[in-house]
Amino acid sequence: MVLLLRTISELRSHLKGYRQANQGKIGLVPTMGALHQGHLSLITKAIAENSLVVVSIFVNPLQFAPTEDLANYPRQLEQDLQLCESMGVDLVFAPTPEEMNSRGDTNALNNKTTVIPPQSMTQVLCGKYRPDHFTGVASIVTQLFNIIQPDKAYFGQKDAQQLAIIRRLVQDLNIPVAIVPGSIIREASGLALSSRNQYLTKLEKKEAAKIYESLQQVKLAFTEGEINATALIDLVKQKLANSEEVKIQYIELVDPVSLQAITQIKQTGLLAIAVYVGSTRLIDNIVLQKRQPIIAIDGPAGAGKSTVTRSLAHQLGLLYLDTGAMYRAVTWLVQSSGIAINDHQAIANLLQDLDLKLTSPSSIDLPTVVEIDGQDVTTAIRTLEVTANVSAIAAISAVREKLVEMQQQWGEQGGLIAEGRDIGTNVFPHAELKIFLTATASERARRRLQDLQAQGINDIDLQQLEQDIQRRDEQDSNRAISPLKKADDAIELITDNLSINQVIDKIAQLYRQLVASY
Ligand code: PAF
Repeated sequence: MVLLLRTISELRSHLKGYRQANQGKIGLVPTMGALHQGHLSLITKAIAENSLVVVSIFVNPLQFAPTEDLANYPRQLEQDLQLCESMGVDLVFAPTPEEMNSRGDTNALNNKTTVIPPQSMTQVLCGKYRPDHFTGVASIVTQLFNIIQPDKAYFGQKDAQQLAIIRRLVQDLNIPVAIVPGSIIREASGLALSSRNQYLTKLEKKEAAKIYESLQQVKLAFTEGEINATALIDLVKQKLANSEEVKIQYIELVDPVSLQAITQIKQTGLLAIAVYVGSTRLIDNIVLQKRQPIIAIDGPAGAGKSTVTRSLAHQLGLLYLDTGAMYRAVTWLVQSSGIAINDHQAIANLLQDLDLKLTSPSSIDLPTVVEIDGQDVTTAIRTLEVTANVSAIAAISAVREKLVEMQQQWGEQGGLIAEGRDIGTNVFPHAELKIFLTATASERARRRLQDLQAQGINDIDLQQLEQDIQRRDEQDSNRAISPLKKADDAIELITDNLSINQVIDKIAQLYRQLVASY
């Protein structure tokens, strides 16, 4: 049963009692009521992460200018309470303005001690048009933090400027609370949820969906390499120019932490927009983040790709996209499902809902951790039976297609390194760093001979080895599936005169240079 408290003293004594009896964390979701799915997603997060959740509902006079909609702002406590009740919220704190020492008029800021965030953050974006708004927000949020002393507090990413200012506030004033962001929740049309959407007519709502469409265009352009502020902003302007109803107040590209304007996205940019649709002011934004780079290492057999890749993954904190382990995992799955290896249709069906996960091992000497349907199969995929069947499974085109699709999906987030024959050409043609690791056939033959001798195999003909290697290169370069190919933009590393550690250092250096140039 949700408990409604209206005074600070009741709330404090309730929380004191709770803290005396419980160790658990207290989460706060500060709101101005008129709760919608955006708030509910913050509440769901708070409930999952805390043992007691307080939702505050207070239409804060301090953050409304005299010309703004304080009097008309939607107030629907009964409905909000029911929603909180159905979500399993423990406490709703809904004080009056008097209780919060905020006279219920729009001059409230003059009658109260206030918290003033850095001007550099409050005089940009919305702050240009709402001069005292963020002082009002910072003051009330500080007051709520003091009253409730939550362990965590939840704020939506839709109000990206508010979120950045509150993060800075708790940092500057050493307020012991973790700020947790919640992603923007949208209607099916893409319109970001806001309590103010209630003011929109049907037509206005339809037109307002164009804001999101324009942000999606920006995202696409950014993914395709556009990083210039003017070009990205112009895309939005062009899209919204077609709408009679939507009038842009501002569009800016800023650093999401400092909120200062940027001309180019080096690593991360926040594109924020405010518009009027009719007389309703709406805001939205998108965070554009360059993904962590992908390293693609291709090259002929015997050039040391796998040792180099494993070691780099460990050194640079990247996921080693162990494609060999992926094919082994599928082989294991086929075997344990009792499906015949030549029943390609059944295998294709089996792979439809493949739930496969790779995680970096804790130590470089351990194999990649592989999970299928949540079950750890790291050891199970290394049996002789799997080894015997893995190449037959890997030759099935449905298997290859499915695994390449999965690899590419993981690649969207970046931060991985993969080796093979066509990683830079076929699997990750947009990889940021492509290496073609090779050595002359005679050098690879010499290395192979050393390996074999180390295993006690001595009667080997070096010339024969070299010929075998040349033949294999030929086959690999001409095979129908995944032929060996050097990408045009790959850096070729001929390793004849380099030790394995020199190769690793060289690639690590290239990677670090790349990251530093972001
Ligand atoms: O985001 C809001 O609803 C308000 O600005 C907040 C954080 C509840 C402060 O009044």
